[in-house]
Amino acid sequence: MKKIWLNTSLVPVKKAKVSALDRGFIYGDGVYEAVRVYQGKIFRPEGHWKRLDGSLKSIHMKIPWSHKFLTEVCRKTAQANGLKEALVRVTISRGVGELGYDPSTAKHPTLTGIATPVRQDLPELWEKGVKVAIVKVRRNHVKSLSPAIKHTNSLNGILAKIEALKSHAFEGVFLNLDGYLAEGTISNIFIVKRGVLKTPSLSCGILDGVTRHALIELAKKIGIRVLETEIHEKEVFSADEVFLTSTTMEAMPVTQVNSQKIRDGRPGPVTKTLQRAFRALVERELGIRV
Ligand code: PDD
Repeated sequence: MKKIWLNTSLVPVKKAKVSALDRGFIYGDGVYEAVRVYQGKIFRPEGHWKRLDGSLKSIHMKIPWSHKFLTEVCRKTAQANGLKEALVRVTISRGVGELGYDPSTAKHPTLTGIATPVRQDLPELWEKGVKVAIVKVRRNHVKSLSPAIKHTNSLNGILAKIEALKSHAFEGVFLNLDGYLAEGTISNIFIVKRGVLKTPSLSCGILDGVTRHALIELAKKIGIRVLETEIHEKEVFSADEVFLTSTTMEAMPVTQVNSQKIRDGRPGPVTKTLQRAFRALVERELGIRV
């Protein structure tokens, strides 16, 4: 990594420093988005900025940066690091203020843009599928710290990731406090049963994923029935197919949950169809070949 966007400009990584008094550091008081750059072009920036606006509103914070500016931050940061294919994380914290939870003394939010390469083994993983672990730690309750907010207070996800890594799983999957399926630590989850696509509804306590949204749209267009609903843990084990969605994973087949294989332990036809449809959508919207 060569350069990071810091507030107004790109700076060398070594100079990209934020104050020890920044509320992002002290309290996890901030929000973020992670945006996919394909061949230098950004997929659905407005989807991300709309969600960012929602996150900011939820934490009672305003920023001086326009959507257009944030899109440029992503494009320029990827470019400055020589990355045509990238994930750019835009993090916005409430900035420096007096100690204490009262945020009113923090007048200037901090903005960073960090571009990382997209992992190289994705095509292999799409082909083989991945293992996930349903973790013991539960997703934050919607009425506590809503998972719909993409905030930088990430310990719920970090604890789940630590648990998942202990069982060598690619991703940890949360249940909500009622015992229904919620989402992965950095992904949404779908199951397929008898041709019907099911995914936890927003009220189950999940992030409204940009990829989830696109996949639901595509499935409906193809004529697949989609249900956004409560899904019991048991339904995952008896599903015909399971897959995860996220900005980098797109539609990632899940072939094992905990120690149990999903059906024959190979990626299923609906997942493959949707992954192909998603790639075609990226090509259409961005005018590229992926
Ligand atoms: N994660 N759920 C959670 C908790 C997430 O953090 C993410 C995204 C998603 C999927 O959302 P989308 O399709 O908009 O990427 C669901 C990003 C990739 C991250 O944290 O890096």
